[in-house]
Amino acid sequence: MISIRRRLLVWLLSVLLFACALVGAMTYFEARDEVNELSDRQLRQVALSLRHQEVFLPAASGGGLGGEEEDDLVVQVWDRAGTLVYASRPGIPLPRDIRPGLRTVSGKEGRFRLFVLTEPVRTIQVAQPLSARREISAGIAFRLLAPSLALIPVLGILIWIAVGRGLRPLAQVASAIEQRSPSAMEPLPERDLPGEIVPLVKELNDLLARLSHAMEAQRRFIADAAHELRTPLSAVDLQSQIVERSETEGEKAEAFARLKGGICRANRLVQQLLTMARLEPGAAPYRPVRIDLADLLRNMVAEWSPAAAEKGIDLGLTRADPAEIEGDEEYLRVLVGNLIDNAIRYTPEGGRVDVGMKGDETGVRIVVEDNGPGIPGPERARVFERFHRCEGTVVPGSGLGLSIVKTVAERTGGRVSLEAGRDGKGLRATVRFSA
Ligand SMILES: Nc1ncnc2c1ncn2[C@@H]1O[C@H](COP(=O)(O)OP(=O)(O)OP(=O)(O)O)[C@@H](O)[C@H]1O
Ligand SMILES: [Mg+2]
Repeated sequence: MISIRRRLLVWLLSVLLFACALVGAMTYFEARDEVNELSDRQLRQVALSLRHQEVFLPAASGGGLGGEEEDDLVVQVWDRAGTLVYASRPGIPLPRDIRPGLRTVSGKEGRFRLFVLTEPVRTIQVAQPLSARREISAGIAFRLLAPSLALIPVLGILIWIAVGRGLRPLAQVASAIEQRSPSAMEPLPERDLPGEIVPLVKELNDLLARLSHAMEAQRRFIADAAHELRTPLSAVDLQSQIVERSETEGEKAEAFARLKGGICRANRLVQQLLTMARLEPGAAPYRPVRIDLADLLRNMVAEWSPAAAEKGIDLGLTRADPAEIEGDEEYLRVLVGNLIDNAIRYTPEGGRVDVGMKGDETGVRIVVEDNGPGIPGPERARVFERFHRCEGTVVPGSGLGLSIVKTVAERTGGRVSLEAGRDGKGLRATVRFSA
């Protein structure tokens, strides 16, 4: 799991270490320039101070002048004949470079800064290894930086504590959510929260509001569905009692017919409820494939032909342009099936139902038209509501078909509309899918 606290700590300490390294490098270079200047001056002064010295111990003696403690200075004296008369550190021989002045030379022991003083009787060389100067510069830089480096662990602890305190409101929000009951939908308090956490809590509250809305809709739907189911089931109950009590065959047959009607209605309602449940977002995967619409409509008209024939209705496919759409076949079948079902169901015997499909570059239109009673203008919007049925409708139904049609159309990117059919009679239902 990612920890903001740990991440911040690592980041801040890395930045701090980087800054220290940068400051250290800068101090080192600054100190090196300074040390170079001072040391050069020192070389010159040592050479000049040796100018008047008369006696030097013999070469290779190592005694006398110079010495390790003198900032690693190396002194050599040559006489006029070119003989080395004195060497402060015989282990570190200097090249016999006797041109007067200051320069950097390379010897067996590394690189040196060398000052040469030429006198009539002798030549004095005073040198210092560059490594010694580097050590001095690094020492200065480190001494300057040491207090800051020592502070880093302290800063680490302070950052750890401060970030922990800063994140405390988040932990409080988390525990407030944890202690809630699953049904508690009231918003979390937004007051006294740091500005960085307010957007999170606001989004959570929005989500809670949407959830509460959805749960309320679900509750209402279940109540409505139970209410709708009660009607046919009460009828079934009543008719079964009548069957039991009926004395003549005629009475029995009539009660049986009513019983069958009630069962049919309950069955239809349950079927439509199941379809609705399948359409709930996330209930079933929506699998869009390329569908040959003309083919699909031909098949559906053939499937519904027996039901139409039973009522003496002339069901036909009037026009089917070649068209393909991207969609879920199951969804399209539910959509067209409900429209054909309505047309056949509400059109009186001997009527006509035409199914057609027009496709062009702007899109596809599926039209189901009948010459039945139609739906009066003001009712055309309301029939899309769940369980709404037009007043005076005697043909049994659950009132869910068109609401299912609308949901399917919306989920597949289509639009449904209802209008009067030809000559202002009947109903024309159109579903448009734009290209
Ligand atoms: N083609 C039509 N002609 C006349 N009225 C219609 C037509 N289609 C629908 N209606 C009216 O609209 C109402 C709602 O239709 P919808 O398909 O939503 O429900 P339903 O047919 O009653 O029930 P079901 O869920 O079983 O289809 C119907 O009750 C009916 O009054
Ligand atoms: Mg219907």
